[in-house]
Amino acid sequence: MKRLGILISGRGSNFEAIAENVASGALGVLGVEIAVVISNRAEARGLEAALARGMNAVCLPSKGLDREVYDRMLVAELHKHDVDLVCLAGFMRLLSAGFIREFPNRILNIHPSLLPAFPGLDAQHQALAHGVKITGCTVHFVDEDLDAGPIVIQAAVPVLDDDTEETLSARILKQEHRIYAEAIGIVIAGKYRVEGRRVLLT
Ligand code: GRF
Repeated sequence: MKRLGILISGRGSNFEAIAENVASGALGVLGVEIAVVISNRAEARGLEAALARGMNAVCLPSKGLDREVYDRMLVAELHKHDVDLVCLAGFMRLLSAGFIREFPNRILNIHPSLLPAFPGLDAQHQALAHGVKITGCTVHFVDEDLDAGPIVIQAAVPVLDDDTEETLSARILKQEHRIYAEAIGIVIAGKYRVEGRRVLLT
């Protein structure tokens, strides 16, 4: 199980961090390959980055399409590239139950907060607005609820008094880039088991 399908909607910095790790880090040693990068938005910067790396980069615009219909297109594209593990990396859409059934325990997401705090949009803004002193990021399996599946890895990040959304987001992003590749490595190597909500490393 080594072929990744990466779904993006924008900048694609998490995708790039994964690609770097595949090229010259632990994921490369594990034999991981990025089979395809798919964006639901044509203007996603990550698509260009994928093309520049000579990867399969596919734009599947989602605008105006019914969720089930769109997700069937996505599933077909992922299967076409023989994807084993789906990594959501800034993919700004909820996935349907049909999609999730196609990849049971085979979809990961990264979220810029310590879940279950601050799910949904603008997690860094939510953290600042709430006044927490520590926030962070979470890699979790995806189930049918938003930002809710079993947690693989989290990293804590301090909130500083003079933080803006930009400075806090940048500090969190650094940790995102580190833990996403690490979590993918754990899942690809099968070094875990899921007991209820808990992901236990084996
Ligand atoms: C990241 O903060 C990620 O946690 C969230 O969306 C952002 C995507 O950034 N889900 P990028 O496209 O990977 O640069």
